[in-house]
Amino acid sequence: MNHILVTGGAGYIGSHTVLELLKLGENVVVIDDLSNSSKESLNRVETLSGKAVTFFEGSILDQDLLVNIFSQFSFSSVIHFAGHKAVGESVNKPLSYYHNNVQGTVSLVEVMEKFNVNNLVFSSSATVYGEGAKPPYIETQTLGCPTSPYGQTKLMVERILADVVRSNSDFKVANLRYFNPIGADESGQIGEDPNGIPNNLMPFVAQVAVGKRAELSIFGNDYATEDGTCERDYIHVTDLAQGHVAALNWLVNQAHGLCEAFNLGTGTPYSVLKIVKSFEQYTKVKVPFKFVPRRDGDLDAFWANADKAADKLNWQAHKTMQDMMEDTWRWQSNNPNGYNA
Ligand SMILES: NC(=O)c1ccc[n+]([C@@H]2O[C@H](COP(=O)([O-])OP(=O)(O)OC[C@H]3O[C@@H](n4cnc5c(N)ncnc54)[C@H](O)[C@@H]3O)[C@@H](O)[C@H]2O)c1
Repeated sequence: MNHILVTGGAGYIGSHTVLELLKLGENVVVIDDLSNSSKESLNRVETLSGKAVTFFEGSILDQDLLVNIFSQFSFSSVIHFAGHKAVGESVNKPLSYYHNNVQGTVSLVEVMEKFNVNNLVFSSSATVYGEGAKPPYIETQTLGCPTSPYGQTKLMVERILADVVRSNSDFKVANLRYFNPIGADESGQIGEDPNGIPNNLMPFVAQVAVGKRAELSIFGNDYATEDGTCERDYIHVTDLAQGHVAALNWLVNQAHGLCEAFNLGTGTPYSVLKIVKSFEQYTKVKVPFKFVPRRDGDLDAFWANADKAADKLNWQAHKTMQDMMEDTWRWQSNNPNGYNA
């Protein structure tokens, strides 16, 4: 019986993707060291799907554990989410990010090659387009210089995977370059549950709305955008999860080794201020905010050209801004303390 291995599957995007895979009847094995997640996410995924997940707690840096897992299951493919993702933290702890994200991937791919598992979907990021890139970002653009060690790890892993494909003509890679995932499963049972102070806008907005934080700080209102706040391409996490399923289906049907990148975004930019106003409009909950100085490294605006994913993967984002706001609020208001109820 074939299985899919999901690294980092207890995390935010991973848990939503595992849910979509289980709903389609796939057999899923998760490895996660729970460094930024809770096993409770997978308990809830099991309840929602009515299907079991096989879970291993541990790191992809632990090759003995990986070999043990690969010996027990016949994997058709791997979806690789495991990694650390806090941009600011990566500036202060670059070696920890290179070790976990880059060395972790090398460790995983070595074991994949050993067991002849040749299909890999990797969580990359729009950050690989770098500082000087002109939006909308398109996959044919030359990659730039990411502004943080976190971004560098994504670029390095993409380059390492391209080299692996050059050396192994059976190996197939889809690098999925995410834009800004937000929202939660429509059940309100799983969602984004960051440790400590949220780094991303949406969990911060939700935590202010639920009364856990007093007000939102908006970093800069003098950017070269319509209302002066940064513009990003926000994509609903369920659309993103379905993008992984589409990429996997495409990948396993390719006859030869390849390494292809796909932007997963909506193609529409929204400003920070517009997000706050939309949240208030659709949830009827006020979000007090103040403007504070810009943060280092934030770009004015970027969004995706997502045509390639539409053409090749037959995937498009369908959820609306209203879905993103209502689903975020359903998750946060049902679970004010995240998974630590
Ligand atoms: N959320 C975003 O805005 C965003 C944007 C672009 C790319 N990504 C990438 O997508 C992936 C998933 O992001 P997310 O938002 O779900 O983050 P997340 O932190 O919720 O999920 C990552 C998971 O990986 C686990 N993990 C970390 N290091 C591990 C290791 N060495 N071995 C095993 N498990 C490990 C964590 O415990 C966590 O459950 C990450 O690689 C991230 O860099 C995220």
